[in-house]
Amino acid sequence: MSINTSPRGKFITFEGIDGAGKSTHIAAFADALRARGHVVTLTREPGGTPLGESLRDLLLHTRTAMHPETEALLMFAARREHIAQVIEPALTRGEMVISDRFSDASFAYQSGGRGVPVEKLEQLEQWTHPQLQPDLTLLFDLPPDTAEQRRQGARDADRFEAEQQDFFARVRAAYLDRARKHAQRIHVIDAHQSIEQIRAELEALVATVADSA
Ligand code: ADP
Ligand code: TYD
Repeated sequence: MSINTSPRGKFITFEGIDGAGKSTHIAAFADALRARGHVVTLTREPGGTPLGESLRDLLLHTRTAMHPETEALLMFAARREHIAQVIEPALTRGEMVISDRFSDASFAYQSGGRGVPVEKLEQLEQWTHPQLQPDLTLLFDLPPDTAEQRRQGARDADRFEAEQQDFFARVRAAYLDRARKHAQRIHVIDAHQSIEQIRAELEALVATVADSA
């Protein structure tokens, strides 16, 4: 029997409304951690496992009407699989896990955006990951009109991206509310800044994360 002596890894999540700039920076953030000697698992939600990717396809592209609570349950179903198959094993191996979205997105989109009561999401969170929370969350914050301009022409809109600006205004407000409540964990990035300015801010954060691991 082999005994795992590696210290537990760190769990870092990227969040923000669609078009705020997560995808532009996430791979470089992972590479910067690798350059400092860390093994990095880069993953995403909904998705990250074969079953999760099937659920993602349904959640993002189905043309069938979906009740907001069905949407929330499917997000957490995909998450349960993701935690069991990818996140927990990698953290146990001592790796850095970077996920493009996690439960904060459910609080922002399904509660803020769609109106599912926060208490129901808290119950799902307790059921799905009672012990696990990100060590650090990077919240890319941008007003919906600027995010929509940035998304123009980038790709065909999915079920969420096709929503109106008032939906994204509620999602953004819910994210910022969570950032106030979890100020120790959630670092808000002013996504109005240039790509270079944000890259510099992230490099400073990489140093902090890498050195504390
Ligand atoms: P997200 O992953 O958050 O949906 P993306 O990273 O795909 O957003 O960015 C959406 C669009 O905005 C892309 O075309 C990207 O090149 C552009 N973009 C990203 N960051 C900035 C920035 N700081 N300033 C201007 N344009 C940006
Ligand atoms: P994302 O991967 O950021 O989309 P893209 O690759 O097109 O940039 O996220 C997919 C969508 O899923 C996004 O619109 C937000 C939504 N989402 C929720 O509504 N709730 C959740 O819990 C998660 C994880 C994502």
